[in-house]
Amino acid sequence: MVTKKQIQLLQRSWDMLGMQNQEMMERVYLNLFAAHPEYRKLFIKSPHDMSISLVRTFNVVLTSLEDLEQLRPIIFGMGIYHHKFKLSESHFISLRKAILDAMAVQLGDLMTPDIEDAWGMAFDEIAKIMLDGIQSA
Ligand code: HEM
Repeated sequence: MVTKKQIQLLQRSWDMLGMQNQEMMERVYLNLFAAHPEYRKLFIKSPHDMSISLVRTFNVVLTSLEDLEQLRPIIFGMGIYHHKFKLSESHFISLRKAILDAMAVQLGDLMTPDIEDAWGMAFDEIAKIMLDGIQSA
């Protein structure tokens, strides 16, 4: 379970990125495709366009994490949407690494082990609900 303190860390580190959050998200996709060139064919949208929607998604998720139960159906629904991409847990593990690496680069010296753990745990909780959604579809 993501703790209250971790939620604060997540929100604070997201705020620290400020206008760089878009750049951070683009970096996520570049990391993902550098590690897994085969994932590129899944995406029609460019990393730039994907990063715009994902910044929006993160803005919603990060302001509502305290009530994960309320978010659950939305995340589950996102999982159902992802069913068609035939994803497995390994795709999520790769994305997790791509996000944490991008965060580390963008935050630089401001990145701490606590912030890293908070992002990792929040990602794992969200990924689990998405995978439930994928499997239900
Ligand atoms: C916590 C995990 C994830 C979240 C929150 C998430 C969120 C989203 C959202 C909001 C969209 C819609 C974007 C749009 O159409 O503008 C999307 C699309 C997509 N996602 Fe994810 N996603 C996650 C994991 C993954 C993973 C692990 C993969 C595969 C490696 C993946 C592949 C895709 C693809 C292929 C699309 C469609 C892109 C396109 O239309 O070009 N997603 N995702």
